[in-house]
Amino acid sequence: MVNTNVSLSGLRLDNPVIPASGTFGYGKEYAKLYDINILGSLSFKGTTRDPRFGNPQPRIAECSQGMINSVGLQNPGLASVIDKELPELAKIYEKPVIANVSGFSLEEYVECAKAMDDQRQVGIIEINVSCPNVNHGGMAFGVLPESAGEITRAVKKVTKKPIYIKLSPNVTDIVSIAKACEDAGADGLSLINTLLGMRIDIKKRQPVIANKMGGFSGPAIFPVALRMVYQVANAVKIPIIGMGGVSSAEDVIEMMMAGATAVQVGAANLVNPYACKEIIETLPRVMEALGIENLEDIIGCVK
Ligand code: SIN
Repeated sequence: MVNTNVSLSGLRLDNPVIPASGTFGYGKEYAKLYDINILGSLSFKGTTRDPRFGNPQPRIAECSQGMINSVGLQNPGLASVIDKELPELAKIYEKPVIANVSGFSLEEYVECAKAMDDQRQVGIIEINVSCPNVNHGGMAFGVLPESAGEITRAVKKVTKKPIYIKLSPNVTDIVSIAKACEDAGADGLSLINTLLGMRIDIKKRQPVIANKMGGFSGPAIFPVALRMVYQVANAVKIPIIGMGGVSSAEDVIEMMMAGATAVQVGAANLVNPYACKEIIETLPRVMEALGIENLEDIIGCVK
């Protein structure tokens, strides 16, 4: 019997597989298809202080081996997430969850993180400084070491739970930003968010996405994500949740060999709603075939 447990900032996960924020809602739709308690954890849709309707349609463009989204942080807002969504989530999922939070100012990040810190089921707070789909917020805070560090410090001051900073790949040097977050007290890092991309409808001679550009995700970005996880893992001591195009148990193992302690699955959920379930079920067989007894033993084994 192989052991798929991993430990993430003191949380013991049955397995490292976590649906990525924005691809699993609050679990409701997926819980109709299978028992989502098999998941290692669950990062629910990013929360902002105020309700957000999101960006104009169309917001999705299909690409080979991936997709572009420009959702624009649509969510019901902090109060509704806490009063309605989290109690509903607790009925269908019993393990600690990851609260992904976004903002348009330092104060908003602080307010959302502080409120999430008080929620019983929240085990980790994931600070999203990497959404490419909004102006004056999201990614704007995550592309410079100084601002990423500033957000980390401010959020750490008002929280007790582990803080993971979700990093953008749309930068020249992700390692310097990762290190700034670590120096500012981050407990872990989540990487990567989507790559800024674009498609043009050649018949209409206009961008497919109403907002022109959006975040590219899916299997096509896996090698880029893996490379960044590897580079960051070799530069910091804090744990990493690796993500970006993960769609199989083999991808999970590859991410962990590059240095990830746990792995988020994003776009794959939108193609196949059973993706996480299938990965979790396949993982032990792949481990056996590769002679891996304890999954934790392979974290960062590739030098
Ligand atoms: C979105 O809501 O636009 C996606 C979130 C993200 O990419 O961080």
